[in-house]
Amino acid sequence: MSTAYGFKELEADIRSVLSRTGDFRTIVDEVRPFLQTLLQSDELLPERYQQPLPHKYAQYLLYKPEDEAFSVIAFVWGPGQVAPVHDHLVWGLVGIYKGAVEEKRYRRVDHGEAAPRRYTLEEVGTVHATKGDISFVYPPDYDIHGVSNPHSEVAVTIHVYGADIGKQERHIHDPATGALRDVVTKHDNDVPIYADV
Ligand SMILES: [Fe+2]
Repeated sequence: MSTAYGFKELEADIRSVLSRTGDFRTIVDEVRPFLQTLLQSDELLPERYQQPLPHKYAQYLLYKPEDEAFSVIAFVWGPGQVAPVHDHLVWGLVGIYKGAVEEKRYRRVDHGEAAPRRYTLEEVGTVHATKGDISFVYPPDYDIHGVSNPHSEVAVTIHVYGADIGKQERHIHDPATGALRDVVTKHDNDVPIYADV
């Protein structure tokens, strides 16, 4: 990538934040402008990676440092493709690089062991995010959402997480029952697109 602000600069900026704070809200607030700058690069995601997969959204690892202190991932959403309601268990930011997506946010409500349903998911709102918009997640209270591309155009989103999200053990939630199941969502590429920066 031949832009002034590349992954080396991003890494230095993120490490500077992480050296000062472990507070998730502060981290996402401070990393947000870095992602905003990254999103402005027209060459961030090579064209061949911007083609949707036929059966599911595509998940491409762009960059991660050796210690996996964070990762940058591109998601490519074909028309109608959906990520079921899920959590992350780590801080993260989601920036829209191309097109638009719909994000439905949830909060998990604990009704106690005696309740017929221990947990339910409470819907807290839906955001229609378009190019340049940035959303965030962090556990435990801002961590659950579902994402979809209800439009006829391909959407590309760029995500930054405080771990390698392709290895992260997390959950898919059933909004109807509050039940959850374990999941690891692996990347669709074996080698990061920017492995040698
Ligand atoms: Fe997510």
